[in-house]
Amino acid sequence: MMDKLIIFGGTSLKGEVTISGAKNAVLPIMAATLLSSGVHNLRRVPRLRDVFTMVELLKRMGAEIEFKGNSCSIDTKRISNFEASYDLVKTMRASILVLGPLLARFGKAKVSLPGGCAIGARPVNLHIIGLEKMGASIVLEEGYIVAKANKLKGTTIYFDIPTVTGTENIMMAATLAKGLTVIENAAKEPEVVDLANYLISMGAKIRGAGTSVIEIEGVNSLNPPNFHEVIPDRIEAGTFMTIAGATGGDILIKNVKAELLDAVILKMKDAGVNIKETRDGLRVTGPKRPISVDIKTMPYPGFPTDMQAQFMAMMAIANGTSVIKETIFENRFMHVAELRRLGANISVEGNTATVRGVKKLKGAPVMATDLRASASLVIAGLIAEGKTIIDRIYHLDRGYEELDRKLISLGAKIERIK
Ligand code: EPZ
Repeated sequence: MMDKLIIFGGTSLKGEVTISGAKNAVLPIMAATLLSSGVHNLRRVPRLRDVFTMVELLKRMGAEIEFKGNSCSIDTKRISNFEASYDLVKTMRASILVLGPLLARFGKAKVSLPGGCAIGARPVNLHIIGLEKMGASIVLEEGYIVAKANKLKGTTIYFDIPTVTGTENIMMAATLAKGLTVIENAAKEPEVVDLANYLISMGAKIRGAGTSVIEIEGVNSLNPPNFHEVIPDRIEAGTFMTIAGATGGDILIKNVKAELLDAVILKMKDAGVNIKETRDGLRVTGPKRPISVDIKTMPYPGFPTDMQAQFMAMMAIANGTSVIKETIFENRFMHVAELRRLGANISVEGNTATVRGVKKLKGAPVMATDLRASASLVIAGLIAEGKTIIDRIYHLDRGYEELDRKLISLGAKIERIK
């Protein structure tokens, strides 16, 4: 479990890499299988820790699940347990995504409160308020959300913050509610759209996914489609773009939808990274030395918070000073202290990090604290001269499928030690 990665940095990465299915699309889609009885066939499912946690969660509810490579079949004909217990939820906050589907289909759910995580308190109050407005009665008992609903009713729900999983939870619940549900200030992430497409293929009536107003007309029941192919992971794609940009590399990134990465691509180009769309994918070539660029994380289609730590690693060796503002989470700079150990010159004031580019980083032992921070340390290790040892890389395995294997195929000197 306490695997480590050893990286000998300083080489430019070259070659091609195929992006896996999106973690943040497949997790809500797997929860959505609870909305209908039948066999759901999902393709391009990334084999990563959070997916296996969701598999375990659904199995404990009675689902029968089979994996063949990156295809996964989920049989939800015999769901008999409506609980998501703390031991699983504490390892993956996205478990909260079963709340809406369980309430909508079975009228009851007992889901552990996620508890905090490294990047912030991450409350789920907006999920709960939304479901209560749809008629659910929800109490908090011994760390659990205990919810009941005879029949959820459509209504208009305004989100103070465009919460991604909050939007997904309410959208899923609304598919089987009575009448029309309107979500205002909804999250517009591509993963919300992929979930909506999956629900529509099951017979749901949804309009406006991808915009800030989503309308869902409740139906009596849903049925699984023949299959669903999960969209590519735009954050994994952005991570490999950053690796090419930071190591002066030349990488062909396949299975990526460039139109979902506009903000990232524009900032990369400002940093001197060359990005060309070819019929095989995105050809990304890094400059000799990146140029410092300011970024501010925003809800989609703004610069994604899930790319902030990776971009900061590239800015650590850029020419100039980069100001990085994190507006989504209150504590998403855990990677700063670790990057400093590699020689980065970064100062933090509240939610703003100022990165003064240095000529080079030097390898050292560092520790991963959360998923994207660990990706940031991998990028910094690939840049740094000498040996970098990254501890606690189970964080990395939560959100990246075989990242070390993909990096080795691009020429990285990297090995995993148990
Ligand atoms: C999703 O988390 C993603 N996870 C996160 O990716 C991503 O960083 C985040 O959206 C923002 O894009 C999945 O999709 C599984 P939010 P989510 O609800 O839905 C506050 C990764 O690295 N908020 O959009 O939990 C919250 O505290 C992960 O793959 C409330 O206050 O994020 C945060 O400040 C990390 N009350 C802001 O809203 C609520 O009820 C945005 O959170 C819900 C959220």
